[in-house]
Amino acid sequence: MSLRALLPKSELRYGFPLSRGHLTTIGPVALVAAVGTYVLCRYLSGKSNGKSKVNQTISKDSAKVVHSFDIEDIGSKAVFCRCWRSKKFPYCDGAHTKHNEETGDNVGPLIIKKKEL
Ligand code: FES
Repeated sequence: MSLRALLPKSELRYGFPLSRGHLTTIGPVALVAAVGTYVLCRYLSGKSNGKSKVNQTISKDSAKVVHSFDIEDIGSKAVFCRCWRSKKFPYCDGAHTKHNEETGDNVGPLIIKKKEL
């Protein structure tokens, strides 16, 4: 049974006539629009939740996390965290290894050493 047979005669006369060609076009277009909208919404909502932030736990009550060191106080070597997962932040405690395994990321520490003369 065709769609045309299901529609009342007045729909055929005054409405938009739908052919099989229209329906085979509308279906894929509607599917692509629905999937695109879903993906866009997921992308936009990911930008606003805590999972997309680099800093998830450190000094969250501060507007900006800043650490400052005098170069003379660093000693011969200092290892600073760049993954924001260290329990000893701003120093690296090796937590980047677990983070990299879980996420496929490749972050590592910043190592500052005194040049040996
Ligand atoms: S723990 Fe963050 S870089 Fe090592």
